[in-house]
Amino acid sequence: MARQVCSAPGKIILFGEHFVVHGSKAILCAIDKRVRVTAQRQGRNTISIKSNMLSTKLHPNIPYRIVDKRTRPFYYIAQSLGITNVAINIHSDLPSGAGLGSSSACCVATAGAALSLSDIKRSILDVSINAERTIQPNSSGADCAVCTHGGIVEYVKDTPPKQLRIPIPKDLKLIVADSGINHNTGEMVERVRHIAQKHPKEFSALSKKADSLVQMVTDSINDIPKLGHLARSNQLLLERIGISNNALRQMIQIADRHSYGSKITGAGGGGCIVAISDETNAHSTLNALTDAGYNSFVAQITKTGATTGALHKVG
Ligand code: PMV
Repeated sequence: MARQVCSAPGKIILFGEHFVVHGSKAILCAIDKRVRVTAQRQGRNTISIKSNMLSTKLHPNIPYRIVDKRTRPFYYIAQSLGITNVAINIHSDLPSGAGLGSSSACCVATAGAALSLSDIKRSILDVSINAERTIQPNSSGADCAVCTHGGIVEYVKDTPPKQLRIPIPKDLKLIVADSGINHNTGEMVERVRHIAQKHPKEFSALSKKADSLVQMVTDSINDIPKLGHLARSNQLLLERIGISNNALRQMIQIADRHSYGSKITGAGGGGCIVAISDETNAHSTLNALTDAGYNSFVAQITKTGATTGALHKVG
């Protein structure tokens, strides 16, 4: 029986997380760690979902809202595309709960594989954002956008993503360090929503600053020291909206000593930081974070977004 494959990259939010949920711009890039999903028709009228963390078989007529959160987006994708007899297999290189786009890349890759089995014509991005919103109703959709398109993407909620058609800066080295603290995106988004409601004027001023930072980034993407400086400015905004903590601040302090600048990437509360560096300081940044006990790596930006089958680009 037909077996469809789709692979999608993980991501780093370079600038603008959280503020993007409230209408500001964000800039994200796809990274060279991927999720690969296969979807295959099976004889039984069952939606089976398997990954390295779970294995479940579900009747295809259950309301998706009552399905366990860990499998809900994938179940929703199969059900909404009318695929009632499918085995979905998920293999991920990405740590989950670290802000590197594991859940979005899984949604994108599952949407890509399932759409190839279905007669329904919808875009991967549309299906994956809806799937992600079954667990994060307020998701901006930014993560799914970059996991679908690859490269560097500028994103505004509920508008088509704009792929920045610029050469990826050759010397740019993104050092990612994992705090080892699992984060819960929904809780952090809710925390920021409370702050925005309680202090609307202050929050709107911070949002404007976040938006203008993104503008400065697009104007100076090849100026790596300046990008580092902008990352520091972005981090100050993230501190103000309550998503940082002592553990993350400690990592940022170490990274800032060696790189051009660093910030939390993703929802915060835990997860990862990203430091902006080049050939001259990438090693010292990586070594300092590794020596301090954090699982760290150099992330390469990849142009390759969601691909199906024999690597036909479908973004
Ligand atoms: O789940 P994470 O860590 O990739 O963060 C998602 C990014 C947020 O801006 C916090 C939420 C969103 O929907 O854009």
